[in-house]
Amino acid sequence: MSEAAAGILAEELNGNPSAVFALPTGSTPVGTYQALAKLNREGKVDFSLGNFFNVDEYVGLSRESEQGYYHFLYENLYQYVNVDLAKTHAPDGMALEPELAAVQYEEMIDGLGGLDVAFLGIGRNGHIGFNEPAASLHYSTYCVTLTKSTIEANARFFKSTEEVPKQALTIGIGTIMKAKKIIMVANGEDKADAICRLKEDTSLDTEFPSSLLRLHPDVTVVTTIK
Ligand code: F6R
Repeated sequence: MSEAAAGILAEELNGNPSAVFALPTGSTPVGTYQALAKLNREGKVDFSLGNFFNVDEYVGLSRESEQGYYHFLYENLYQYVNVDLAKTHAPDGMALEPELAAVQYEEMIDGLGGLDVAFLGIGRNGHIGFNEPAASLHYSTYCVTLTKSTIEANARFFKSTEEVPKQALTIGIGTIMKAKKIIMVANGEDKADAICRLKEDTSLDTEFPSSLLRLHPDVTVVTTIK
């Protein structure tokens, strides 16, 4: 899964060296980032002109914070590839006004012509980025209050569940849908229900945010789940 996803991402970057990517954190993409680092070491992909935006960031965590998502991408990808760090971005988790930071982040992505590639994982509850199941979804980058299930799922990265931030900044469903290409990775039994629902169900349900991806013309799901 990781090598297949890395191959697709590398092809996109090779086809458009200054492409704009959204990149997720979490357990699932770690292998993809390792495979990308290997391709970069072997001279098969060049990161130097690419633009990379974190899909999301916790409110209250800085770029340096070990549990922060910018730090995650630095640790898992950026430090191993020839990326220009000035072209790597994450929502400002320390902003005094998170809503304003969200608007500025969306403007920065728009300023570069929008996303060429949205690389995504999927939550057990169908979330993409931190677009959580809800009666309505947000179009642009916004400040989200995380659900109990997401806080519990992410507690493994913290000393205790209480330490998990309760809010995050995430690119919106519209930010994702405007991307020219969407690539999703999913593995593990705990994602089987979500992937099966994504594949088999035909509804568009804001309570299952990834179902909105059905409206997009170019989505690739790379998964070990049959
Ligand atoms: C994180 C993100 C989330 C994760 C999802 C799956 O940046 O965007 O939507 O992709 O929660 O996380 P893992 O891969 O840890 O199961």
